[in-house]
Amino acid sequence: MPSTRKPQRLVVLVSGAGTNLQALIDAAQDPAYGATVVAVGADRDDIEGLARAERAGIPTFVRQVKQFTSREHWDRALADTVAAFEPDLVVLAGFMKLVGEDFLDRFAGRTLNTHPALCPSFPGTRGPADALAYGVKVTGATLFVVDRGVDTGPIVAQSVVAVEDDDDVDTLHERIKVAERSMLVDNVGRLAREGFTITDRKVRFGA
Ligand code: GAR
Repeated sequence: MPSTRKPQRLVVLVSGAGTNLQALIDAAQDPAYGATVVAVGADRDDIEGLARAERAGIPTFVRQVKQFTSREHWDRALADTVAAFEPDLVVLAGFMKLVGEDFLDRFAGRTLNTHPALCPSFPGTRGPADALAYGVKVTGATLFVVDRGVDTGPIVAQSVVAVEDDDDVDTLHERIKVAERSMLVDNVGRLAREGFTITDRKVRFGA
């Protein structure tokens, strides 16, 4: 049954290639998806993620930490800029900075992050490398609602990927990203169309 909710406004933050962003942009072409990408922000210039947004005609912005006198000022400026686009959901899609107090005060409970490991294993910026080094046989991707920790928030979805004997960090991360993109698209769409609740860390679809 088509959703009766208005399309949910997504602001997506990126730091790199933006393949997860692209998957969201592509999915949102279909009005039945239930969400639309209204802006894309980054913490650095000259990245493919921003170019993807520009090609799609989506407004972009850059807020670099080094442009501000402190991390707190950067965080507030980032939050102000995101807020101006009136997002229903903020999606960190390969955004390699931790957002701070100001940001979370304003967008807590509606900021999503996708991480290339099965949380709570291997948090941080080296998920695939740390999984490979540990020697796990399966790893994957996790979509979660951002809280004040590092990759510790309530889990929306996880996707499992086998580690192959001949994997290096790049082959493993690329295989994770294939699973990650479809997990992200499927679940952001459901969150947008159905709404969600969080009780005792359990994320459930439905308003
Ligand atoms: C994704 O695998 C994402 O999970 C990861 O960066 C990649 C971005 O790819 N994020 C983190 O590691 C954050 N801790 P993309 O730019 O092609 O979407």
